Amino acid sequence: MSICRVCSGAVREFFDFGLQPLSSAFVDPAGVDDEYFFPLSIGVCQSCTMVQLLTPAPRGQASHEGYPYHSSGSRVMHKHFQQLAHRLLETELSGPDPFIVEIGYNDGVVLKTVRDAGVRHLGVEPTGRGAVRVHSAFFNAGSAAEILASEGPADVVYAANTICEVAEIAEIFEGLKVLLAPDGVLVFEDPYLGEILERTAFDQIYDEHFYFFSASAVSGMAERFGFALVDVEHLPVHGGQIRYTIARRDRRRPTQAVADLLAREREQRLVEPEKLQAFATAVDRIRDDLLELLTRLRAEGKRVVGYGATAKSATVTNYFGIGPDLVPFVCDSTPSKQGLVTPGSHIPVRPPADFADPYPDYALLFAWNHAEEIMAKERAFRDAGGQWILYVPEVHVL
Ligand code: TYD
Ligand code: ZN
Repeated sequence: MSICRVCSGAVREFFDFGLQPLSSAFVDPAGVDDEYFFPLSIGVCQSCTMVQLLTPAPRGQASHEGYPYHSSGSRVMHKHFQQLAHRLLETELSGPDPFIVEIGYNDGVVLKTVRDAGVRHLGVEPTGRGAVRVHSAFFNAGSAAEILASEGPADVVYAANTICEVAEIAEIFEGLKVLLAPDGVLVFEDPYLGEILERTAFDQIYDEHFYFFSASAVSGMAERFGFALVDVEHLPVHGGQIRYTIARRDRRRPTQAVADLLAREREQRLVEPEKLQAFATAVDRIRDDLLELLTRLRAEGKRVVGYGATAKSATVTNYFGIGPDLVPFVCDSTPSKQGLVTPGSHIPVRPPADFADPYPDYALLFAWNHAEEIMAKERAFRDAGGQWILYVPEVHVL
C-alpha cells in the first residue's frame, strides 16, 4: 500500500515490474556499471480510483532536470500539435489579446504556431530550451503568481504528455487557481487508462508516466481542487489518448462527451479488480509469447533488429529480459541516443541508415505508436521480404 498523491487514500498495487532503470537514461557503453534503478509498480487508489505508480522516480536522478523533453521525430505528431494550436486560436484564444501558457512545451510546435499568429504565449519549463518565450520554472503557485504579475491571467494553460508525469499534481492545480482567467481552461492530453487496459499497452508504464488517467478519476480530481471536467476528446495518437478540458467550477456546462465517457467507464468497470487482473495476465502472456518468438528466431539464425529506442521500450526489454543477445541493435532517428546503449538492457542504438545495411529478417517495432508512419517510410523493408514484429495488443507478425 502507498498513499494516493491526489486524495491521500490507499493505493493498491496491481502490477509489479520490479527494479527498472530510468527510461531516458541511455548510457555510454563504458558506463553501464553505474546505472540507477528504482522499483516500478502500479496501483489503483481505493478512494478516488486514480491509477498511479506506487513510487515516483526521484526527479534529480533523471538525465534532464525538467519536464522530460519529447521529440518523437514524427510528422504525424507535428501535424497533430499544429492542428490543436489552430483550433485553440479559433476558439479559446479568439478574444481580445489572448494569452496561452504551455507547461513542458515539447518541441514547441504549439507555441510556435501560436506565436506566428501573433498571440501572446509563454512556455513554463525548468530547463528553458527552445525558440519560444520561456519562464524557467516548474509550474506551481509561485511561478503562476510571477507570470500573472508580468502577463496577466491565462486564457489557456496547455500541456501534452506532461501532467501525467507530475506526481505532486496538487501543485499544478494551485498554479491554475492563481493564473487561470475566470473563464480560462486547462487543456491537457495524456495516455488513456481505458486504452492501456484494453490494448494491454503495458509499456506505457515507465518512470516518467506517474498517472494513468481516466475521465472519472480526472473529474474527481478536478472537483477536489475547485475545478470541473468540462470536455473530453479521444485522440488516436500514442496508442490512444484523451484530451481533457478543465474549467473553474460552475463556469462551463460539461459537454455530452464527458457524460458519455463517464458512463462508458462505469459500464466497463474500468478499475475493478477483475479488469486489472486480466491486464496482468495479458502482460505475462505477451512476455511468454515474445520471448518464445525471439528465441526461436535466434535458433533459426534469423536477424532481428529493434526499431525506435522509445522510453516505452525500457519496460519491455527490462521486464522481459531482452538484451543484445536477442536484439543486437535498435535503430533510432534521435542523434543524441545513437552510439549509446538502452537503459538497463544495453542494446546499442544505431542510426536508421544501419537498418537497411542490410535489412534484417525481422524488425521488432518498439515505436508501435508510430506504426503507420514508420511502416510507410520503411516500405522497402517489407518489399525486401522483411517482417514487423508487434507485441501490442498481442504478439503478432506483419
Ligand atoms: P516516442 O513516440 O516519443 O515514444 P516514447 O515516449 O516511448 O519515447 O518515441 C519515438 C522514438 O522513435 C523516438 O526515439 C524517435 C524514434 N523514431 C524513429 O526512429 N523513426 C521514426 O520514423 C519515428 C516516427 C520515430
Ligand atoms: Zn486517491
